[in-house]
Amino acid sequence: MKVAVLGAAGGIGQALSLLLKTQLPAGSDLSLYDVAPVVPGVAVDLSHIPTAVNVAGFGRDDLDAALADADIVLIPAGMPRKPGMDRADLFNVNAGIIKTLAEGIVKNCPKALVGIITNPVNGTVPIVAEVFKKAGTYDKNRVFGVTTLDVIRSEAFVAELKGLDVSEVKVPVIGGHSGTTILPLLSQVEGVSFTDEEVAALTPRIQNAGTEVVNAKAGGGSATLSMGAAAARFCMSLVKGLQGEDVVDYAYVEVEGGDAPYFAHPVRLGKGGVEEILSYGELSAFEQKAKDDMLETLNKDIQEGVDFMAS
Ligand code: NAI
Repeated sequence: MKVAVLGAAGGIGQALSLLLKTQLPAGSDLSLYDVAPVVPGVAVDLSHIPTAVNVAGFGRDDLDAALADADIVLIPAGMPRKPGMDRADLFNVNAGIIKTLAEGIVKNCPKALVGIITNPVNGTVPIVAEVFKKAGTYDKNRVFGVTTLDVIRSEAFVAELKGLDVSEVKVPVIGGHSGTTILPLLSQVEGVSFTDEEVAALTPRIQNAGTEVVNAKAGGGSATLSMGAAAARFCMSLVKGLQGEDVVDYAYVEVEGGDAPYFAHPVRLGKGGVEEILSYGELSAFEQKAKDDMLETLNKDIQEGVDFMAS
């Protein structure tokens, strides 16, 4: 198993790489790529952790070697938010970065499962898909927007609010990955009921949790440690799927005939990536309205990614 992290020297990249060094199956290769000159040092640092995962660092000119024959590629490369910015403000900078990296995947590992973390996820996932389509290598089952942070935040906040063992709490989160497009399905949390007031307070808290971190870091970036944990968790779901285990997780994927061309759903994972897109089930009246209200924004975000590649 070879896993490549693109943007591995950044806040998310380093946290994610650390977790993968300790969690990937023995014998795996962990390939770290970044344009920042510190990346070989990050690899050396991690290589001193005694696990049977081989680590190698690759600098600016070595994208091909970093990606060669990778099974999974995770992309946290690009600019994070500062206070006052929303994720859409990152589009112009990050779109070009994502396009270049996607072209590298086409060339070096066209069959890899690709997890995109770089914001705005609603628009960067369509960019990767369009690059792959142009090259004739697109397989919609292999391209994922990583929305796991929305899931783990929901688990943490629900457990905190209700005084539950967080390891027992599961919260479905569907839609996109910015503001109101993030839709936690609190009506489906097993064994827990919420008052209307709780739903009305918890839903926007989950949607704006990223901004909570951005403001608390006061110009020092956005969520990195929780995102590293989220991406590692999602990567391990992909790994288990590749190993033939039956795994269900949430991700932002292309959905034919869905609510929008890309939408976060529960997905069954396997050797080919997405084996099946599962239904998100019945929505409460509150969730149905929230979904209807956010679709225009989500569709606009998606179109921005498609238009970027068309221009
Ligand atoms: P950071 O600034 O700490 O790290 C970004 C890294 O990307 C840097 O090391 C930089 O050198 C590298 N980079 C820039 N251009 C590159 C290129 N062309 N190729 C390879 N590496 C390149 O930023 P941080 O905090 O790690 O965030 C990264 C991205 O993840 C941001 O776009 C941020 O908005 C996004 N993010 C996504 C979340 C999600 O839930 N999907 C949650 C939090 C952040």
